[in-house]
Amino acid sequence: MDVPFFSRRLLRRPWKRYPEGGLKDAFKGYFKIGASVSPWHVRHLGHMISFEFNSLTADNAMKPSSTEPQKGRFYWEKADRIANFCRRKGIKLRGHTLMWHKQIGSWMYSDKDGSLLSKEEFYANMKEHIFAIVRRFKDIVYAWDVVNEAIAEIPTNPDQPLRESPMWQIAGEEFIYKAFEYAHEADPDALLFYNDYDEANPEKSKQIFSLVKRMKEAGIPIDGIGMQGHYDIYSPSPEEVDHAISRYKTLVKHIHITELDLRIHPGDPPEWQEQIREPMRNASLSKKEEEQQIQRYVDFFRVFMKHADVIDCVSFWNLGDRDSWLGVANSPLLFDVYYLPKKSYFAIKNLGLFRS
Ligand code: XIL
Repeated sequence: MDVPFFSRRLLRRPWKRYPEGGLKDAFKGYFKIGASVSPWHVRHLGHMISFEFNSLTADNAMKPSSTEPQKGRFYWEKADRIANFCRRKGIKLRGHTLMWHKQIGSWMYSDKDGSLLSKEEFYANMKEHIFAIVRRFKDIVYAWDVVNEAIAEIPTNPDQPLRESPMWQIAGEEFIYKAFEYAHEADPDALLFYNDYDEANPEKSKQIFSLVKRMKEAGIPIDGIGMQGHYDIYSPSPEEVDHAISRYKTLVKHIHITELDLRIHPGDPPEWQEQIREPMRNASLSKKEEEQQIQRYVDFFRVFMKHADVIDCVSFWNLGDRDSWLGVANSPLLFDVYYLPKKSYFAIKNLGLFRS
């Protein structure tokens, strides 16, 4: 990443170390606080990261297309850089992700002509991939998003709620079960999660609940549900999130908020992705938008704290607004484009510190 002059200066400055500690300290006793990062971040922002967070996720470096883009050809460098940083600093790493319909080499499920593999071939590929990555990071990864986003978009069809991905076409729901079995075999100590978005939407959460229930009933080693938490400043309501967590926790002992951010502009990223990189300036939000965002961050954290018996980690997706996959214009995170804390940072931190 090209680093403009202003940030080069900023990055050299020692990170402000608040006497009360970072976010991770404010929420001690509740849950870990995490963020997704790239090798660039751990290299340039190590002091800030280790001050604020006690859980990290690789934003792209551990996805199948990054680690094994072609069958048997592994590229570990980026993932290793993040894992080694965690090892050095004693930060826990969440593994993301083993099976997803995106960012995965097509070799996993199809041959050179594009025809789908047999179930046996697909399972052999899946097992080989899962074993390689899970075993490599066994010492540092404490939780894996084993399967990501396997349920279809809303409105879901109650008769066929799963996403019709190539993996599903080959093996149906069973591929999800197999992925968990392989991951468990490769590392029996890791916590294994099913991770998805729109997870607080009443319709989608019903489908997530049923899938996990079926898995539990079939004896599949699943420990938790990952709620991505890609919300906007209008929806979902804190009550919907509260309700979804209350339901999920009747099934699983662990819930992680895995990819929290609160976008200003509702809708899918591509619609405004144009605005992403340029200029590297903080977005100008209206007073109303800013206040709404802060209020909702606080409301969601209150819900998470209420469910701290089952939520053991709350992770943000990306570090500062300049990195967000949603673009700078959405200003969705707690740190701005200069990695300086925003008002929402202090609002949330105070909530943890004063436990109100
Ligand atoms: C995103 C990354 O942040 C982007 O850099 C990449 O181009 C696309 O993927 N849900 C997930 C994450 O589970 O893996 C996605 O990450 C964001 C949505």
